[in-house]
Amino acid sequence: MTTKLGNVVTVSSAGAVGVLALNRPDVLNALNRELMQELVAELERMDRDDAVKAIVITGNDQAFAAGADIKEMADESAVSLLLKRQFDVWDRIGGIEKPIIAAVSGHVLGGGCELMMNCDLVVASDTARFGQPEIRLGVMPGAGGTQRLTRAVGLRKAMELLLTGDTMPAEEALRCGLINKVAPVELYLQEALKLAHRIAAQPPLAVRLIKQAVRKAEDLPLAEGLDYERQCFYLLFASEDQKEGMGAFQEKRNPQFKGR
Ligand code: CAA
Repeated sequence: MTTKLGNVVTVSSAGAVGVLALNRPDVLNALNRELMQELVAELERMDRDDAVKAIVITGNDQAFAAGADIKEMADESAVSLLLKRQFDVWDRIGGIEKPIIAAVSGHVLGGGCELMMNCDLVVASDTARFGQPEIRLGVMPGAGGTQRLTRAVGLRKAMELLLTGDTMPAEEALRCGLINKVAPVELYLQEALKLAHRIAAQPPLAVRLIKQAVRKAEDLPLAEGLDYERQCFYLLFASEDQKEGMGAFQEKRNPQFKGR
């Protein structure tokens, strides 16, 4: 395990899994510009690093993140936000091809919840609380909350959370389909790492194309999504891993995937 301390993100790796920990504990990991830039730069670096097969993003037990940094935002104007291209950095998360697992605990609010919803899988501690409280600040989510929360939990629950600013506990988030798994607070990070290691051991090309195809399902009409899936399926038959996977099945041995 190697660990590198950035200004506001701690970067470590455990075998084939890269781990990024948000590190502004004094402000419950509020997402300021520096943190988002550092986080996304590290995500992109890990995405290009062949040794990394899956990525975990976490915070600490008290907070994954309590939202965008309100103090940094308070004096902005519509024009300053537009000129700063405030959300461009968020859009780059959509370009990450490796699977991202969020390991969340404590406050998962506003931009924190939106960051989590940008991840592909979520393991939460039993102390986690989720919500989009922006309405209490006189604004609304700006990093995808109205769209991704609605797709994840359905229109009624999204309306309730967004219009009241209330939070919901981990068990409810699990029932709503917002997260994959709940674990005791001492174990959620371990569980997320376990899941990441399982995915990291899968054939990398199939992992990459499955992530792409599932992400397309959020945007495409069914017929186009099915067509996209089929092209990806055909493409995998050009890989050595397909020959290895199907050969190993017939020879009754474990496959050795090489990612080509
Ligand atoms: N931005 C900046 N600082 C924050 C913050 C945020 N989002 N959330 C917490 N902090 C800071 C507090 O100001 C406080 O700092 P000081 O000690 O310097 O005063 C420190 O973190 C600890 O917070 P609290 O004392 O408030 O802790 P608490 O346990 O009493 O309450 C809380 C916790 C309920 C999460 C409360 O901090 C809170 O309501 N935070 C704001 C949540 C929020 O509104 N998030 C949405 C932000 S807007 C957004 O995210 C827009 C978007 O779509 C991108």
